[in-house]
Amino acid sequence: TTSGATAAAAEKGNYRHFMQKEIFEQPTVVAQTLRSYVHQANNSVALPQIDFDLSAVKRITIVACGTSFYAAMVAKYWFETFARVPVDIDVASEFRYREPVLEEGGLALFISQSGETADTLAALRHCKAAGQTIGVVVNVPTSSMAREADLLLPTHAGPEIGVASTKAFTCQLAVLAALAAHLAVKRGRMSRKEEQEVVRHLLEAPAALNAALDHDDDIAAMAHLIAPARDVLYLGRGPDYPLALEGALKLKEISYIHAEGYASGEMKHGPIALIDEAVPVIVLAPSGPLFEKTVSNMQEVRARGGQIVLISDAAGLEEAGEGCLATIEMPKVHPLIAPLVYAVPVQLLAYHTACVKGTDVDQPRNLAKSVTVE
Ligand code: G6P
Repeated sequence: TTSGATAAAAEKGNYRHFMQKEIFEQPTVVAQTLRSYVHQANNSVALPQIDFDLSAVKRITIVACGTSFYAAMVAKYWFETFARVPVDIDVASEFRYREPVLEEGGLALFISQSGETADTLAALRHCKAAGQTIGVVVNVPTSSMAREADLLLPTHAGPEIGVASTKAFTCQLAVLAALAAHLAVKRGRMSRKEEQEVVRHLLEAPAALNAALDHDDDIAAMAHLIAPARDVLYLGRGPDYPLALEGALKLKEISYIHAEGYASGEMKHGPIALIDEAVPVIVLAPSGPLFEKTVSNMQEVRARGGQIVLISDAAGLEEAGEGCLATIEMPKVHPLIAPLVYAVPVQLLAYHTACVKGTDVDQPRNLAKSVTVE
């Protein structure tokens, strides 16, 4: 109806699309989410009380779908690195049918914006029946998953309207980072001092997200170079490999350009065969122990004519990016929050590319916001 359309337009404020609005809301909603997971007074992590000893967790199983699954991939990296807990992850549609081994004392964690995704909900019930403790990271507090959780970890992203998930994802990462630090402390792998350090870095995330959003105009200009492509590759390593997958998923979902995310080091085992002048390659390369390796993977692409967009916070980015199609400079952040910050440029690149192509950004063809059927 006309009034419905007017109401929706009003909610979009000055933004063209809900997705754009939601991308720009991230500094606010991540800050809002973090407020309920940290004690500002002493910079420690605060989790809801549960009747379950988290220090005794022997194994964590994380199950999710779509973008929420990529948050699970990042979380696996954090839980293992910081808390040294073994983590098993899977997409819900596979998990349910592969007869996973669920040991006693396990924590099963489900990540979902809607809390209603049919496959994820079925996986939750399967784990519950198998006696696992059920943790849920969910954006809709009244959802089925929220109701069935033993440990409810809400994200406070507010309603997400755009079909392609954006702000829910970064809020999921914020909660999962806090949980990783909490588990690490509980398991004696992180001192209180280190925890305070991590919390301080987490609290820097909103400002870092703002700094990443400052590149909106550059990325909008860059989108004209990406829009004509038939295929786009995204490369990343470690906790930023899932961000490469997320970048590719966002581009596919809303611009309908074929895109693939790959672990940088795996490229030589196949996708490098695709590289030529017509294939843009988006390289996510935060500074840190894996930076040099990613740069050498990038050089392999460049040697084959690949058009590189380098996204990095490394000193001397100009130099590292010589011969690249473009570089996007990210703020310097602790590796723990890099995945949150690098979500912004890949979201914006997909968003602006879709705008150039004139697709229906908020309601992409064939996709649904919440998939409540199997
Ligand atoms: C759909 C949406 C995606 C979302 C996925 C999982 O496919 O289009 O954006 O990531 O479902 O949804 P959930 O609500 O469980 O996070």
